[in-house]
Amino acid sequence: MPNVTYIQPDGKEVTIEARDGDSVMETAVRNGVKGIIAECGGACACATCHVFVDEAFMGKVGEPGPLEDDMLDGSAEERNACSRLSCQIKMNADLDGLRVRIASEQV
Ligand code: FES
Repeated sequence: MPNVTYIQPDGKEVTIEARDGDSVMETAVRNGVKGIIAECGGACACATCHVFVDEAFMGKVGEPGPLEDDMLDGSAEERNACSRLSCQIKMNADLDGLRVRIASEQV
């Protein structure tokens, strides 16, 4: 199963083995990772699951879709080129070793 590492705004890291097909948000919530609020439960309607994907993985993770892109415009912490909503990234073997930094503000 693929691993994903979450980096808190203070630099603390935790690595979790994700279930194939679960989103990065679901993996965080299921395992008690702080900082991902996920108010809408993964419907791409809240932007409270904002993460910054490690640049090395941007090619594999890909760009946000149009709806996600709109939502990121309203994120609490300003977006950058590596911003994604973690509910929209599904884990798979290709993403093993993924690293994401959790936004310091989600609301
Ligand atoms: S959980 Fe609401 S947009 Fe990701």
